[in-house]
Amino acid sequence: MSARAAARVAVVVGNPKPRSRTYESALTLADRLGGADLVVDLADHASELFDREAPRVAELVEEVASSLVVVVASPTYKATYTGLLKAFLDRFPHQGLGGVTAIPLMLGASPVHALATEHGLRPLLVELGATVPTRGLYVLDSEHDRREPYDAWFATAEQLLPTLPAPALEVTSA
Ligand SMILES: Cc1cc2nc3c(=O)[nH]c(=O)nc-3n(C[C@H](O)[C@H](O)[C@H](O)COP(=O)(O)O)c2cc1C
Repeated sequence: MSARAAARVAVVVGNPKPRSRTYESALTLADRLGGADLVVDLADHASELFDREAPRVAELVEEVASSLVVVVASPTYKATYTGLLKAFLDRFPHQGLGGVTAIPLMLGASPVHALATEHGLRPLLVELGATVPTRGLYVLDSEHDRREPYDAWFATAEQLLPTLPAPALEVTSA
């Protein structure tokens, strides 16, 4: 087990582009939950994801699996989540997100794929044992820095999310 304390709110971003709009959007959402204390930008770990000997990926799997809430974010690629995100989630064991509340978040260029969180990302997270109490949030990339998409989502989602303990003082990135 990792020596690091379990994260209240973790963020996983499955974008091959580092510090992307998807990343910013995921942090915006996490801020509304009191802030992320674990941020995994998979662009930083892409070369290790298929290496079963890579210790950092195994650690990240453990850290995400022990979080209370995880925002799982992906840009929309070909109407669904990215292969990069899938490669990371494939490293989790059966029911590897058991006991974790997951929030699916996807960015896309077009509203045509607004249900991709529901027919793509949600089933994957449920298969991993996550609790997914809310609708996923789909944000148009052109609107990712506006308040409205997040406000509209929180208006219905907030009451469905678990009550979280007060945020820790220290924020760490992975
Ligand atoms: C390979 C590829 C496939 C894409 N497929 C879709 C798609 O099917 N539907 C869509 O709305 N946007 C699609 N896009 C646009 C991206 O979803 C969008 O630009 C991205 O979410 C922006 O976020 P980013 O700045 O974090 O990368 C695609 C982009 C790429 C590079």
